[in-house]
Amino acid sequence: MCGIVGYIGALSAKEVLLNGLGRLEYRGYDSAGIALMGEDGGAPQILKTTNKVEALRKDAEAVPDAHAGIGHTRWATHGAVNVINAHPHRAGRVTLVHNGIVENYQRLRARLADQGRTPVSETDTEIAAMLIDSYYRGDPHEAVRRAAADMEGSFTLAILFDDHPDKVYAICRNSPLTVMHTGQGSFLGSDVLAFLHYGRKYYAPANDLLCELTAEGIAFFDPADRPVALQEKTVDWDVDSADKQGYPHYMIKEIHEQPSVLRRTVRQYIVEDRVDFSCDDLEPDLFEGVEHVHIVACGTAMHAGLTAKPMFEQLAGVLVSVEVSSEFRDREARINPRTLYILVSQSGETADTLAALRRIREGGAKLLSVINVKGSTMARESRNVVYTQAGPEIAVASTKAFTTQVAVLFLVALKMAQDRGVDVSNEVAALRRVHKQVERVLSRRPAIAEAARMLAAARDIFYLGRGMDMALAEEGSLKIKEISYIHAEAYPAGEMKHGTISLIEPGVPTVLIATQKNCYAKSLLCAQENRSRGGEVLLIVPDGWHVEKDGADVVLRIPGDGGFMSAFGAAATLQLLAYECAYQKGMPIDQPRNLAKSVTVA
Ligand code: G6P
Repeated sequence: MCGIVGYIGALSAKEVLLNGLGRLEYRGYDSAGIALMGEDGGAPQILKTTNKVEALRKDAEAVPDAHAGIGHTRWATHGAVNVINAHPHRAGRVTLVHNGIVENYQRLRARLADQGRTPVSETDTEIAAMLIDSYYRGDPHEAVRRAAADMEGSFTLAILFDDHPDKVYAICRNSPLTVMHTGQGSFLGSDVLAFLHYGRKYYAPANDLLCELTAEGIAFFDPADRPVALQEKTVDWDVDSADKQGYPHYMIKEIHEQPSVLRRTVRQYIVEDRVDFSCDDLEPDLFEGVEHVHIVACGTAMHAGLTAKPMFEQLAGVLVSVEVSSEFRDREARINPRTLYILVSQSGETADTLAALRRIREGGAKLLSVINVKGSTMARESRNVVYTQAGPEIAVASTKAFTTQVAVLFLVALKMAQDRGVDVSNEVAALRRVHKQVERVLSRRPAIAEAARMLAAARDIFYLGRGMDMALAEEGSLKIKEISYIHAEAYPAGEMKHGTISLIEPGVPTVLIATQKNCYAKSLLCAQENRSRGGEVLLIVPDGWHVEKDGADVVLRIPGDGGFMSAFGAAATLQLLAYECAYQKGMPIDQPRNLAKSVTVA
């Protein structure tokens, strides 16, 4: 959460920082701020707003440009959303921005109070600034190093010193930081997206390395202040994929990207009609002797695990459990050495999933991470990683990350089945074609937009399904909650009659997903039960499956003949339903209230 940027060089610092913040707004948008450093040093010019980055851009027109600076877009953790708590924060000769949580900030605050230092904000960030200033005797390296040694938790800091106007400093621990140098200067950001339009080669410094950025280059120092050389990395996806490319929102653009990213994700792991992960260099015995798979993830990524569970069980014959990462962490789960743990994360930075990863690693169990962002903390800390090829996902509501996660989990299930001698050639062939299924769903967008009218008027909606469709119901209801602010509840279709059906009345619509042959008749019965109590039903079924004339109020068809692969068409339909509903209600689709894309706090 929170995005930070920094720049020093020949370009307009204002421009670089504001552009970078605009690209990092997906990380939080409670407030935004920049500090601009003049060439002669002294206190930087600080601008802050509780509005969005575009408002900050307007405010910035009134102040002179600079050659260096830092910036921040906030997802509030400590303290209310107001200008005092907005970053940058300042103490003495130190100005900084921060992403993460300084867990021992109360203790540090008490210590600094003993020295007569009193913060003006409620943030842990100001304490970090005061701590660095308390150690500052003219040597930035020493001050940052000593302060970092005192701080616990996770942090990325970008720091300016009044009397070193030719340098920007940065340091991180358990929180993302990327830096880049080009002929135009040195850049830093929580994510490469911040500076992608200036170059493609970057560094991802490890924990506790001090980064010293100047217009001429970047130097790295270890905690003993010895210079360290780092290996440069290259962004390997298409830079344009980080833009809206004419779509009104990132979300709809990302929904439309699904055919191509699904194709790419699936193709990389199929060699001669067999699932093959050799390009990712997994441990050779990773899947051997596994009796149980435990999938741990948050939000949409967890729903991808639920969606894949039936395939693991039915084809590979392994038992699967799925758990949200915070619960796994909070119940101090026992680690079973015979279990394969699969962690799923788009960002690779989610605090609870990362904590789960560390716990499983310490427990010595087999561990596989399914991640989208290369070089993310989880990717770095995992011996076995399978990548989704979704490219950058900017909209807070996850879409293409979800379907590519499902595709990768299906591939893992098929690989385990294949290794156990099961013939999965039909499923492998079908998975190769799922991108076409999604393409056809996208071509049905007008009908889905029409169907969304029924939902847009509702205050409460039920999403129902059985088996795999129940997992998709969970994801569909999350999508509509996130961006339409309509209360939606996913419920097992077979369980409604045990109490919850009492809530069905006129004006409470149900989205019923029925794509599994074995329980199709029962699902249709549920539609009848709800309709006879006055609730409207929107039914999602495969092409050609019979629905009685009065079987549902609206029927949306998905291509294919049901089964596992219908997950993709159903997911795309549910995403479009949520998008069109939010669009009709005029919601801020890419930046829903209170949310952030990457939740790096527990
Ligand atoms: C946040 C996002 C969700 C996402 C979840 C897990 O809550 O808003 O869209 O599914 O985090 O994120 P991850 O990056 O671990 O997949």
